[in-house]
Order: sequence, then C-alpha cells, then structure tokens
Amino acid sequence: MAAGSHYKYLVLGGGVAAGYAAREFSKLGLTPGKLAIISKEGVAPYERPALSKAYLFPQSPARLPGFHTCVGSGGERLLPEWYSEKGIELVLNTEIVKAELSEKTLTSATGATFTYDNLIIATGSSTIKLSDFGVEGANANNILYLREIDDADKLVEVIRSKKNGKAVIVGGGYIGLELSAVLKLNDLDVTMVYPEPWCMPRLFTAGIAAFYEGYYANKGIQIIKGTVATGFDSNANGDVTTVKLKDGRVLDADIVVVGVGGRPLTTLFKGQVDEEKGGIKTDGFFKTSVPGVYAVGDVATFPLKLYNELRRVEHVDHSRKSAEQAVKALKASEEGKTIEEYDYLPYFYSRAFDLSWQFYGDNVGDAVLFGDSDPSSPNQKFGSYWIKDGKVFGAFLESGTPEENKAIAKVARLQPPAADVEQLKSEGLAFASKF
Ligand code: FDA
Ligand code: NAD
Repeated sequence: MAAGSHYKYLVLGGGVAAGYAAREFSKLGLTPGKLAIISKEGVAPYERPALSKAYLFPQSPARLPGFHTCVGSGGERLLPEWYSEKGIELVLNTEIVKAELSEKTLTSATGATFTYDNLIIATGSSTIKLSDFGVEGANANNILYLREIDDADKLVEVIRSKKNGKAVIVGGGYIGLELSAVLKLNDLDVTMVYPEPWCMPRLFTAGIAAFYEGYYANKGIQIIKGTVATGFDSNANGDVTTVKLKDGRVLDADIVVVGVGGRPLTTLFKGQVDEEKGGIKTDGFFKTSVPGVYAVGDVATFPLKLYNELRRVEHVDHSRKSAEQAVKALKASEEGKTIEEYDYLPYFYSRAFDLSWQFYGDNVGDAVLFGDSDPSSPNQKFGSYWIKDGKVFGAFLESGTPEENKAIAKVARLQPPAADVEQLKSEGLAFASKF
C-alpha cells in the first residue's frame, strides 16, 4: 500500500458494519477504486457472532470463508473475491493510530496516510480487560478475551491443549453465557463467576435468568454469583493455575475466559467530534457533527425514534442496518435527495447449547413471564413481555419458531395496550399472535 492513498469513500474498521456498508455501496452503484475498507484484522469482514458459537464447536467448527458477511442476514456471502470484483480495496492488517478529521486524513501504525472525501467510522468495540482494574496476575497465560478472529484462534489452540481441563468464565453477560456453553461442549469442567444476583442482568429478569441458570446447572456448569475475581496465580511457565475470588474462594483453572463488557472504540476521534452516552453522536442518517463523517455500528449513539431518545446498541442487527442507512443517506445526499430517518426496533439474540432466544423492543416497566420456564422440562418454551404505561414495550422468547419470533417483534413495534397483566400471562404467545 503506497502512502498517501485517496478514496472518495473510506470505511474505518473491517467488521460487520463495514461488510454491510460495502454491499450497500455496491447495490447503489459504485465506481471501482472509489471505496476502501481499512481493518487491523487480517481478513475480510465477517459475521462476528460466529466467533462465540460455531467457531468454537468441537466438531465441524465454522471457518472462513464460511461466515464472511453478509451470510448472517441471508444474503450473498461477501468473499474476498467479491471485493476485488467490485473494485473495493481491502486494506487489511492496518491499524489506524491517528485521525485528523479536519484534514480528512488517517495515519496507520506504519506511517501510511489515507485521505478521503467521506469517512464511515465503524471501529466497533474493544474488550474491557481485568488488568484495566489492576486485578493481580491478570496478565498470566491462558487468561483470554474474545473479540476478533485472532482471539478465537488463540482460544481454539488453548482449548485443544487443555483437554478435560478446568475453565473459569469471568462475567455473566453475553460472552459469559455463550462461552460457558461452548467450553462445556468441548468437555471442559466449567465454572462461571459473576458479581450480580443473576446472569445477564441488563436484559434478563430474575425469572428469565432462573431458567438459564437451571439449564446450565443441569449441563454440569457450576455458577458462583455475587463475587468477582480479585487475582490469579500462575506456574513457573506463566500459565494461570488459580482464580482468587473476593469472597475468599480459590478455583483451579487451566483456562480463564473473561467477558466483563466492551467499550466503543472512539479514542481516535476524541475532541474532534460530538460524543454522547459513550459513543459518537449521530443523527438519524448516522451523520456525525463533522461534515462528510458518518459513524455506524457499536460506536454510534443515534436517535432511537421509537423511544425518542439517543441510544448506543452493541448488537449485530443494528450494525448491519446502521451501515446500510448511512450509505443510503450518503448516496442520496450526493443527488440532493433525502431518505427516511432511521426508525430502529432494537433486536438482540443469543444461542447456546440447544437454546435460542430473541428479544425485541425495550425492557422497561414491569415484566410478565409466560410459558414453560422449567429448565428440566422437555418442551421448554417461555417468554416475557415488558409493560409500561399499560402498553407492551418489549418481548422476549426462548425457542420460538420463525413465525412466533415475527409475532413478538410485531408486538414490540406496535406497543398494543395490555392493561390486564394476569390475562397477558395466561395468554402468553397467543397474545402476540393476534397482531
Ligand atoms: P466490529 O467489532 O464488528 O468491527 C470493528 C472493526 O474495526 C474490527 O475489524 C476492528 O479490528 C476494526 N478496527 C477498530 N479500530 C481500528 C483501527 N484503529 N484501525 C483499523 N481497524 C480498526 N451481536 C448479536 O446481536 N448477536 C450475537 O450473537 C453476537 N455475538 C457476538 C459474539 C462476539 C464474540 C462478539 C465480540 C460480539 C457479538 N455480537 C453479537 C455483537 C456484534 O458482533 C457487534 O455488535 C458488531 O460486530 C458490531 O459491528 P461493528 O462493525 O460496529 O464492529
Ligand atoms: P456484557 O456487558 O454483556 O456483560 C458483562 C458482564 O460482566 C456483566 O453482566 C457482569 O456479569 C460481568 N462483570 C462486570 N464486571 C465484572 C467483574 N469485575 N468480574 C466479573 N464479572 C464482571 O459484556 P460481554 O459479555 O463481555 O460482551 C462484550 C460485547 O460483545 C458486548 O458489546 C456484547 O453486546 C457483545 N456480544 C453480544 C453477543 C450477543 O448479542 N449474543 C454475544 C457476545 C458478545
């Protein structure tokens, strides 16, 4: 890559949003040589959710090129050849270390510069490290994090080298729940540790969490709640051997996986662009406060029209849709046209073991649990509605069929009245299916 390359459109970040932005540019008409994607990863954009699921399966694991974007939304998979055919340059293994938005210039770690007419910031999130809080011994070998494909490869290597060993998972959020399951599938002896009274508290109610905690316990996963890891011991090779907990317990460990949250990667732009709620502030077209600069995916704090507030969303559906919206808006503005403002219905999902849940809307107000949420039941299917001001705001469903998931999405979008909570509980899914 020669220094001083110029592009009409530059996407910084080569993750999910970047892949979907490229597809949208191509759909709307793109002259070869006008678009480049800069990524510090060494591979073309891929569907990141695969990393905590099929990539780590003990049998027939997913591998690239199987899950390049846009296969996750049911579209044509964007293989590296697709980018070359379209004349889209993939500038891989390239970390940008300096951004000067007023000069429309990015500089890489090796000193290469890239200038642009339009920039789409799609840098995603970084993982919060235990060493950020000064946890003693947190730099020992085999204490692992998961964000990018290199992290997943490292995890695969360690899983293979620690057959039938002990794994401790620190954190009870998305990474904690998905990684505990997949490490158990790899026959490791798994213990989860998290500080809250139940798992995934930012979404789950106590009732929802009780199902997953029971299901995981039935699979042989130990769960330790209400405490945190305060230190690690390692052996002479520097490999982790034990996890010390705040409550005094000490756990043996051959592998530790940490999932204690992410941080949007906005530092390159500090002081150069308006920020809000930890992200880069955008309008409903993902335009930032700097002309010609857009921000999408995990880093964007955008107007969530449905709830009339600014939000940041760290999930894949939004990263895809925000990228498409930004490109549509950019291309329309070149023709002096406008498009409809982004009108997003929040959608999150997760899969682990044979389980699969979906959530739509907002988890605010009172939660109403319905269905069979007994973790030992052979036909478990349950869900929850969230009711605020007498209306349904959010809906969650475990083990739903595609039609049932569509129905709960519709309910969350329509926000129908639901004054009688007892009736809603007894109707369960039938309530959503009426709309
Ligand atoms: P994303 O993280 O995808 O991409 C950012 C890119 O920018 C990366 O390629 C990075 O290397 C690059 N980059 C950053 N700084 C750079 C710099 N300075 N120079 C060059 N390149 C730079 N969501 C969901 O709804 N369901 C799910 O099941 C999952 N599962 C899941 C599993 C795992 C392991 C993770 C880590 C995350 C998920 N998610 C998820 C969340 C989802 O993947 C996430 O919200 C999207 O990937 C965000 O897309 P972005 O494009 O914004 O960032
Ligand atoms: P998270 O925010 O989902 O969970 C963080 C968890 O860390 C908390 O629930 C808490 O249990 C725990 N925690 C916090 N401080 C702790 C401490 N000191 N010790 C022990 N536990 C502590 O974050 P994550 O699971 O790390 O996920 C990282 C990012 O990846 C997020 O953006 C998430 O949305 C994304 N992700 C999403 C999915 C999905 O949508 N299915 C899957 C994987 C990852």
